[in-house]
Amino acid sequence: MKKYIVFLWSLFLINISCNNQSNSKLSENQINKKVDEIIEIMNIDEKIGQMTQIDQRFLDTITDISTYSIGSLLSGGGSHPEINEPQAWLDMYNKYQSESLKSRLQIPLIYGIDAVHGHNNVYGATIFPQNIGLGATNNPELIYKISEATSIEVAATGIDWTFSPCLSSPEDYRWGRTYEGFSSDPKRVEKLGEAAVMGYQNAKTSSGKSVVACAKHFIGDGNTEFGTGMRGLLDRGNTEISPEELKLKLIPKYQAAVDANVQTVMASYNSWNGVKCHGSKELLTDILKVEMGFKGFVISDWQGIDEIPGDYKSDIITSINAGIDMVMVSGQAQPYKKFMRLLKESVEEGSISMERIDDAVQRILKVKLRSGLFDSPLVENNSLNTIGSDDHRKIARQAVRESVVLLKNENIIPISKNINKLVVSGRGADNLGMQCGGWTIDWQGGQGDITIGTTILDGIKNAVSKDTNILYSENALDLEDSDGDLAIVVIGEDPYTEFFGDKENLDLMDEDLNTIKNLKNKGYKVLVLLISGRPMNISDHIENWDAFAAIWLPGSEGDGVSDILFGDYESTGTLSYPWPINTEDGANALTKNLLFKIGFGL
Ligand code: GLC
Repeated sequence: MKKYIVFLWSLFLINISCNNQSNSKLSENQINKKVDEIIEIMNIDEKIGQMTQIDQRFLDTITDISTYSIGSLLSGGGSHPEINEPQAWLDMYNKYQSESLKSRLQIPLIYGIDAVHGHNNVYGATIFPQNIGLGATNNPELIYKISEATSIEVAATGIDWTFSPCLSSPEDYRWGRTYEGFSSDPKRVEKLGEAAVMGYQNAKTSSGKSVVACAKHFIGDGNTEFGTGMRGLLDRGNTEISPEELKLKLIPKYQAAVDANVQTVMASYNSWNGVKCHGSKELLTDILKVEMGFKGFVISDWQGIDEIPGDYKSDIITSINAGIDMVMVSGQAQPYKKFMRLLKESVEEGSISMERIDDAVQRILKVKLRSGLFDSPLVENNSLNTIGSDDHRKIARQAVRESVVLLKNENIIPISKNINKLVVSGRGADNLGMQCGGWTIDWQGGQGDITIGTTILDGIKNAVSKDTNILYSENALDLEDSDGDLAIVVIGEDPYTEFFGDKENLDLMDEDLNTIKNLKNKGYKVLVLLISGRPMNISDHIENWDAFAAIWLPGSEGDGVSDILFGDYESTGTLSYPWPINTEDGANALTKNLLFKIGFGL
């Protein structure tokens, strides 16, 4: 009997792999039919394997991929091959995918990564502005192009799936993930998030596979109450909002992503009215899958099910029954073999029904078939040159230009390119890592030359005439006095990601304020550029500044800032978050307490 099934299956595989129609062009009916055929011959272990996602760093051995028919691998922040360069990423992908094709049913694995502002884990990839800066462009066509370029770079390394776009609409800027949100305004997020999903998933990649996008984090990640999160702050805290208010305010931006055919949704760490999203059947099934008609699959966040109250086995039962289809086990805290054993036990004892398992596996297989993964699981080395290409860097430079928000300008900008003397100062002037922010090369980002790009200083040098005398001094202490020369001083935040960026206070750093004070005391005019993941407290200082622009986290193409400073382009960026006098008051500050309104920009 077994031989007969294997014979049938190999016929089926021949049919799947060499039919003239690539699977990704199959109709939904044809896909449903194929999935039913596969499910028919899968055993429980293979079904559970498909629902398991492991970070490649935590594989016990590579053969586990085929032994357990593992459905997905990911690279969490910083989870790169030995050598972090494009060829090594492609080799790593093909190595794991080849192992996946040795499984009994040869179901290809789907590989996911946080390509959230470019293919940002990969050395040399184009690093686009973080979402807060893209929100300031308010340009959906540009967001589409950025996501398309990102998918082309992601696919060049073989990878199938990006955990992006983040659809947060953050309200409390003390949250470290504020910069991952396009805007505090859900309407602006809706428009830009939809463009991102379309750009990611419709990109024409070299392999022919389409890259799968992921709307995250469902739901209310940026709307938690201060004090309810980790370390008594915000991240992963509780979001109190009525079902009516939820559907009016936060659901539409996800509905737009679902209507744009987003293939995956990531559950959020936070709680909704005291219930962990990862364990909420009302959210993940009743609202997302039934009411909103989501046909893809729900992925958990990194060890997200572990945070559900109860022991690990009850976490598994609660989350799968709530509607999680694939679990980002990761393998770091809980061994993935333990996860698979407990999940199997839960099914065998009836705590999780086989139809729930089949529903989850069907969703996963459909996403794989729709993306063309079955057609070309292994990827040719024929497009690595798209990574960090001039074309992509041009798009990034345009995004930087359009993300700059000019908030004060006492006849400083545009600066003449023939200016005789120009001082450039501040911690962020010549620091690629600082201008990229978190989620860059490593999970928490880094300082200095972490990848290939142009700093703000590089951009200034490229823009001015050869006769201009540029003086660079990070803290301005060693400068002689001046009678009104101009100093460009770049200040701001060091890189951070997730809860590492949660802060009670959003004052500027003393070091930065001292640099500006040094310059003013020496008689310089100052143009202040702020690199930050959120609005910060400037109301006590801005009156002493001759000009001020928020440049957010611009990424690798720092020369996009000079395009504005020296007048090659008009500044068009507008605030996608209101800027309160006390920025700890966040987006809900009363209008009378605002320094600048949302939508403002000179
Ligand atoms: C992280 C983040 C999520 C990311 C995932 C995988 O904890 O919450 O945004 O996609 O883990 O890195």
